[in-house]
Amino acid sequence: MKVVSLFSGAGGLDLGFIRAGHEIIWANDNFLDAVKTYRKNIGDHIICEDISKIPSDKIPNHDILIGGFPCQGFSVANTNRGEHDERNKLYLELLRILAEKQPKFFMAENVKGILSLMRGKIFELIIADFINAGYKVTYKVLNAADFGVPQKRERVIILGVRNDMDFNLAHPEPTHGEISNLFSHKKSWVSIGEALKNIPEPEDQHDLTNHTYSKFKLKFNGYLGNRAIDPNKPSPTVTARGDEKGGVVVLHHPNNHRRMSVRELASTQSFPIDFSFEGSNSSAYRQIGNAVPPLLAFAIASKFPKKLECHVTCKTTSKAISQL
Ligand SMILES: C[S@@+](CC[C@H](N)C(=O)[O-])C[C@H]1O[C@@H](n2cnc3c(N)ncnc32)[C@H](O)[C@@H]1O
Repeated sequence: MKVVSLFSGAGGLDLGFIRAGHEIIWANDNFLDAVKTYRKNIGDHIICEDISKIPSDKIPNHDILIGGFPCQGFSVANTNRGEHDERNKLYLELLRILAEKQPKFFMAENVKGILSLMRGKIFELIIADFINAGYKVTYKVLNAADFGVPQKRERVIILGVRNDMDFNLAHPEPTHGEISNLFSHKKSWVSIGEALKNIPEPEDQHDLTNHTYSKFKLKFNGYLGNRAIDPNKPSPTVTARGDEKGGVVVLHHPNNHRRMSVRELASTQSFPIDFSFEGSNSSAYRQIGNAVPPLLAFAIASKFPKKLECHVTCKTTSKAISQL
């Protein structure tokens, strides 16, 4: 299926769609380092530009529209969140392109906090907007740890199917759980200690890219980014607090002797070991914190049809055929 990706960042979400057999034909982000990372690892079909400046006739027709619209305005981690935050309006850009291009399917990702914003009113409006654009919409909170990512990361995944499409698009079922379960064939969550065990210390001999780390002093005060990490569990959520001007949150290494290197944080998000990041360490940490874990993205992307087979036709086409 031909996919257009908005707010693509370094390409975590796109990587999952590519792994699942889809083709990204056009992507966009306005964060230059993330765009450079994307070009280096994924392809040069990404445009570095503010999405609000791109008319939809400049975007190719496609089957699936995907996008993790910026979450800072919505996040519970941001105490200034509110319906007037300008960044919240970026979802309207996704809505504009959806309404004007009418792809067969769409997928939008966001932080769980979006559900409780203004006691749920904002989310209701967003869903109503998608329905009015001509789509059947479902949503679910998925935890990345339930799909083999060594991190607890809950995100709202909104799926849409154009009203005239005869296809039941469902969310993926978890493959992992807190404890393994023979009956449901679930494996146990991947711990962060397990995920990072083969990555050597940055000071030791290695040929890894981006294996350098923030020397910011370790603190153990219980606040975000200042908590001891339990090596036997998936890590807490990797976040990218703030925009380019704000600081980033870098988790402690599970040995709790230093912060994670960029490489280790990328592994915490399930990026492949040879996926390299452009820009300074804090830029790379931010690109990683912003990303949809590729493993979670793969599970979601696998639920979309690979191509439109006979049973996945648009109802109007089948009606026209039956009238022949
Ligand atoms: C949550 S991140 C998405 C990350 C991406 N889905 C991934 O998996 O790597 C949101 C992205 O939106 C981008 N962004 C914010 N404002 C934008 C704008 N006006 N135009 C284009 N991109 C924008 C940010 O630079 C950031 O990379």
